[in-house]
Amino acid sequence: MIEFDQVSKKYRRKEVLEPFSLTIREGSAVGIVGPNGAGKSTFLKLVASLDRPTSGKVLFDGKPYEKVVRQVRSEIGYVPQDIALYEDLTVKEQIAFWRRLEKNKVDEDFLEKMVGMLRLDEVYDQRIDRLSGGWKRKVNLCIGLMRNPKICLLDEPTAGVDLAAKEDILAWLKQLHKEGRTLVYISHDWYELKALSDEFLLFAEKKPIFQGSQGEWLEKREELLGRYEDDRELRRILEFS
Ligand SMILES: Nc1ncnc2c1ncn2[C@@H]1O[C@H](COP(=O)(O)OP(=O)(O)OP(=O)(O)O)[C@@H](O)[C@H]1O
Ligand SMILES: [Mg+2]
Repeated sequence: MIEFDQVSKKYRRKEVLEPFSLTIREGSAVGIVGPNGAGKSTFLKLVASLDRPTSGKVLFDGKPYEKVVRQVRSEIGYVPQDIALYEDLTVKEQIAFWRRLEKNKVDEDFLEKMVGMLRLDEVYDQRIDRLSGGWKRKVNLCIGLMRNPKICLLDEPTAGVDLAAKEDILAWLKQLHKEGRTLVYISHDWYELKALSDEFLLFAEKKPIFQGSQGEWLEKREELLGRYEDDRELRRILEFS
């Protein structure tokens, strides 16, 4: 379980997240949605321990993150929104490169299964800079999860991919969740948010303004629509849900 206790985040003097508290339960699939710039990626980086809060505490099974940072890093896999790959390597070389960096922490059976599910073997010998955006995103996903983490953090893992690739990614993420892993992922697509999440987390105006099941979302939607009727993007998100 991961707990945020009155966490806030500033970059220099700019407040990006106002103080908020929330819990991510073990084994849950949390779908994060919200307008551009609402703080979703910043939140995910805090969960990944890639960034530190300006105030407040993040707890991992009740212990402050800074005390268990190695455990946090070993149990969490993070897939960044910005694709982070070496452009002049082939897919095969890319995977081998990251596998070496991760030393003995890569789960080979898991990696092989993931490569198959994402059909990466079809482009194994192609250089990253020759691949289309959708394929790069699949490689990015594969690198982020190659250690077979218990907690998978995914920042827009399907951004810019076509429908068939999206289907492959969703099927893989569903399987990870079914096998008991915790998923926390960001998306702007309600179709996949509904297909994957047992909980929605809505970020707006620098904080989470809703967390709950799909049923709770339906109950709360009208009220949120009334409360945020002046926010055009937020209204669209609520209307399209
Ligand atoms: N390293 C940084 N330095 C300064 N400002 C930052 C930094 N990272 C993010 N921000 C700012 O924090 C705010 C939230 O950014 P964030 O990337 O978390 O939004 P987001 O909800 O993920 O948006 P999107 O849907 O566009 O990905 C934005 O105003 C952004 O400009
Ligand atoms: Mg983002």
